[in-house]
Amino acid sequence: MTKIELLIYNAAQVVTCGGADGPKRGAAMTDVGLIEGGAVAVSGGQIVAVGPTAELRAAYTADQMIDAAGKVVCPGFVEPHTHVVYAGDRVNEFELRVKGTSYQEIMAAGGGIVSTTTAVRQASVEQLVAETLPRLDAMLALGTTTVEIKTGYGLDTASEMKMLRAIEMLAEQHVVDIVPTFLGAHAIPTEYKGQAEAYTDLVIEEMLPTAAAWYQSSTFAARHIPLFNDVFCEQNAFSLDQSRRVLEAGLALGLPVKIHADEFTALGGVSLAVELGAVSADHLDVTTPAERAVLAASETVGVVLPAVNFNLGSTHFADARALIDDGAALALSTDINPGSAPCPSLPLVMAMACRYQKLLPAEALNAVTRNAAYAIGLGDRLGSLAPGKQADIVIVAAPDYRHLAYQFGGNLVATVIKRGQVVGG
Ligand code: NIG
Ligand code: FE
Repeated sequence: MTKIELLIYNAAQVVTCGGADGPKRGAAMTDVGLIEGGAVAVSGGQIVAVGPTAELRAAYTADQMIDAAGKVVCPGFVEPHTHVVYAGDRVNEFELRVKGTSYQEIMAAGGGIVSTTTAVRQASVEQLVAETLPRLDAMLALGTTTVEIKTGYGLDTASEMKMLRAIEMLAEQHVVDIVPTFLGAHAIPTEYKGQAEAYTDLVIEEMLPTAAAWYQSSTFAARHIPLFNDVFCEQNAFSLDQSRRVLEAGLALGLPVKIHADEFTALGGVSLAVELGAVSADHLDVTTPAERAVLAASETVGVVLPAVNFNLGSTHFADARALIDDGAALALSTDINPGSAPCPSLPLVMAMACRYQKLLPAEALNAVTRNAAYAIGLGDRLGSLAPGKQADIVIVAAPDYRHLAYQFGGNLVATVIKRGQVVGG
């Protein structure tokens, strides 16, 4: 008998989301790696074995035993796209939208991202951290164990660096793993109104080199976690050419690529992302069939964010069904942010994706675990229950994984385990 730290046993279902290397595509998305009556063995913060309960109980004795009878054991959820560091809120804009003003009209009138920028510029780094910690707590309680976080509400060098420092402090203080993304090219700040080209130059010449230099001595470099570089490729934000310039400048500094593409306008961002070897292309609400084919033929993961459409009161959603059917690697995300998606819940996003985008519950689960981990470049470490993977595990108070998408509005997450330690639930 081998002595280990933790054995979770007797689960109604262990759902591994395992498989061959790489994100799941096509028919493989419907395979969640289901083991009825399964068990998971954990040692040194990593998974050492997954299999039938009788087999693992015969092989291991554990300091801590968790009886998961009647429950589902699955990988911790991975959140690949957030703007969760911000100050204040935009509840007034929410009410304006209810009365009929659109998100883009609010943005064009100087609200939206730019209004959060005013609040973030005024906030101290400590205030940003203090406002964000409870949001991360809420996400953890809903099963999220890894969170990508973008800058992009600073929009000047000092404020963007303040956001990066806040993200680093959160990584040091909170139990979730955090993956940082620089998003200086999120919006044109008020002082550059009408001068998108000049602001793009500032991002390239000043912000990106400062962020890349900071990264080298950050906690993230020490943990072998990349700093991504992202851009909002959209009308009234950054053109395709400006997006290319920003992303190529980041690549030259060693920052891998992400992109916000095709949220409202199809500008060709997917092809750009694929050409530059982006780890993900996100939103994809109005992506054309031709661009979908380009994505499907690439390694770039498509991330769709149905909580945004829901929150904006839209009945149009990204064609995630076609993305999967065409063979693209698909992930889901909340996009948690104060404007387009004040939503911490990946299970709720799964529920939306099944209803409005016709994903099967299995596809939605793979999309918030394994494929989401690949969308932030950490698929080799996270997102599935397999020997050698980090022991980030969620125990769900339901006998069948499909309940995660079937029920909504509550919280079925009973226990959250991070690197082998029970941290929530
Ligand atoms: O992903 N689309 C651009 N950025 C965010 C919105 C952030 C905000 O509204 O504050 C998004 O939806
Ligand atoms: Fe976003």
